[in-house]
Amino acid sequence: MTTPALDDRADIAHPATFGHAMPYATFARLRREAPVRWTPEPDLPRHSSAGRTVHRGSGYWAVLSHAAVIEASRRPEDFSSAARGAFLVDPATRADLDQARQLLINMDAPHHSRIRRVVTSVFTPRAVARLTDTVHAHARDVVAAAVAKGEIDAVADLAAELPLLVIADLLGMPRGDRHLLYRWSNHLVGFDDPEFGGGDVEIYRRTFAEAFQYALGMAVRRRAAPGEDLVSLLANAEVEGRRLSDREFCNFWLLLVVAGNETTRHLLANGILALAERPDQRRRLVEDPGLIGSAVEELLRWVTPIMQFRRTATRDTELAGQPIAAGDKVVLYYAAANRDPAVFAEPDEVDLGRDPNPHLAFGIGPHFCLGANLARLEARALLTALRPHLANVELRGVPTRLESNFVNGLKALPVRLAS
Ligand code: HEM
Repeated sequence: MTTPALDDRADIAHPATFGHAMPYATFARLRREAPVRWTPEPDLPRHSSAGRTVHRGSGYWAVLSHAAVIEASRRPEDFSSAARGAFLVDPATRADLDQARQLLINMDAPHHSRIRRVVTSVFTPRAVARLTDTVHAHARDVVAAAVAKGEIDAVADLAAELPLLVIADLLGMPRGDRHLLYRWSNHLVGFDDPEFGGGDVEIYRRTFAEAFQYALGMAVRRRAAPGEDLVSLLANAEVEGRRLSDREFCNFWLLLVVAGNETTRHLLANGILALAERPDQRRRLVEDPGLIGSAVEELLRWVTPIMQFRRTATRDTELAGQPIAAGDKVVLYYAAANRDPAVFAEPDEVDLGRDPNPHLAFGIGPHFCLGANLARLEARALLTALRPHLANVELRGVPTRLESNFVNGLKALPVRLAS
């Protein structure tokens, strides 16, 4: 059983495309034609108690080559994250845009660097190294429970569990509340997927309200009695001479919750699927534990959990020879860049020993992923704990994919894991 492939005519803008498979053949054809391509957007249904509407995007420039993604990411003054936000779908109103801009990911310099600085100390290599023992212990527990169960859903039982435990610790939350984080991030990131809302605006708003209420409760407690956790840091931080407002705090908190579990979950789930389908690569890892470091990088490249982030051109300019007008939407496809044959030999093959591996799974430039060290640690820990059982991993059904044009997500992955 192997994952299905699509022909090279897939609509790369439509969430439903990704419910079937990743459109790598289409990325490759488009990139061959031009590294920066105009892409129309489909009509996307939205509904609420007020009725049904259709969201119609403006269309965008899809940036598909490794070199062009790097160039656009390194020219933030020309390709802004704040102008219209970093997500493919435009904020519906001016108020929505203002609200979105309270999120680190939707900011430009100099405000971006000041806000980012609030939490960088938590994510430095040294700070993350201090979490090594705890993260490895969580990974061993999660794998032991899965092995004891035998027949598992590798998404819920393995890939989701580890990042949820880690982010709950980091935020100083009771571990028992981690299922709340799972539900919230499914509903937010899975907005277009019929199982999680299928464009239901009210479910989306309700999820925000519920998550914010929970976050505010934590902020109040940590302002009264600060601890060592990330929430205490955020709730008491001063930027530009004032404390973050409740709304700014909640937005930052939710970004960490979603970024800290959804992305790593899909890396681990798709990584397990890649290994389950490739006995030769599994054997290499079983025989040589020294490959774990490069295996993590290769799975990051091969999976690319976040497929794209968006920018907006701030002036009439040019990218990889393509004229771009001020105000145009520009979408950086890390998923396509990471399969660019100009940089990666046999890009559609998994080679756990690939070196060098200059993948862009964590982005590049001023918004480079804050959690990259942590995500790498979690992936190393899971592979280390899984390695003794890898020879006996067996796919037991067809994986279910998330309908999302943003994350390369799996919803379920039936697997047998023998000791
Ligand atoms: C495999 C796992 C992960 C992947 C693939 C990933 C990917 C990315 C990418 C591509 C960006 C760049 C956004 C841009 O350029 O607009 C980013 C930013 C970010 N990531 Fe991650 N991420 C992962 C894990 C994490 C974790 C574990 C955390 C936190 C606990 C995290 C927190 C963030 C934050 C806060 C930003 C925004 C940084 C900024 O705007 O300055 N990520 N991530």
